[in-house]
Amino acid sequence: MTDDWRLILRDFSVSCARILLHMCAVSNLKILLTRDQIAQRIKEMAAEITRDFKGEPVILVGVLKGAAIFLGDLARHLDLDASFDFIGVSSYGNRPSPTHELKHGWDSTGEVRVTKDVDQSMEGKNVILVEDILDTGLTLTFLKKLFLAHKPKAFKIAALLDKPSRRKLPIEGDYVGFKIPDEFVVGYGLDYAEKYRNLPDVCVVPRE
Ligand code: IMP
Repeated sequence: MTDDWRLILRDFSVSCARILLHMCAVSNLKILLTRDQIAQRIKEMAAEITRDFKGEPVILVGVLKGAAIFLGDLARHLDLDASFDFIGVSSYGNRPSPTHELKHGWDSTGEVRVTKDVDQSMEGKNVILVEDILDTGLTLTFLKKLFLAHKPKAFKIAALLDKPSRRKLPIEGDYVGFKIPDEFVVGYGLDYAEKYRNLPDVCVVPRE
C-alpha cells in the first residue's frame, strides 16, 4: 500500500470515529421540549406581546448566540412593526466549561461584560430583550441595568426557558416560555461547548 493510501485510510477512520462519538453523544440526549411544544408556546407568547404593544413599534434585542433561533421564530408571529438588534455578553472568565458545570455546578461573582454592543440608540424605544434561558439571573440583571440607563420607553424580557431553582439574583422574565428543572439543556439555540444549537427540540444533557 502506498503512503498516500495509508494517509487517506487513516483520515477516513479518524472521521468515522468522530462521527460515531458525535452520534453517541447526541443519542444520549433526552428530549425535554419537542419542537411542536416550543412552536405552540412561542405563538402564545407572540400573541401576548402583540396585545401588550398593540400598534407600537418594538425593537427585539437578541442575546447572542443562544437567542437567535428563538428571536427569529418569535418575530415571525408578532403582528407588530418589529426591528432587530443583537447584543453579545460573556461572563468574566468565572463561568466554568459546560462539562465542569454539569458535574460540579458553579459559583459566580456575577461579572458580565459586553462583547458586542447594540447598533442603535434605545432611548424612547419599546425594547424587548430576547434571551434563550434565565438561569442564575446574572446576565439579565446586568443587561436590564444597562438598558434602563439608556431610558427606553418600555423594557421587557422575553425568555424561552427559565430555571427558577438556580436563581442567584431576584429577576423574572416578563414573557417566559417554559419553567424547567435544574438540568443542562441544549438545542433550539442553546449549546454545549458550541454544539447542538441546531437541534430542533430542547434536550437534556445527562450529567454522567
Ligand atoms: P445566567 O446569567 O446564569 O442567567 O445565564 C444565562 C446564560 O447562561 C444563558 O444565556 C446561556 O448562555 C447560559 N446557560 C444557562 N443555563 C444553560 C443551559 O442549561 N444550557 C445552555 N446554556 C445555559
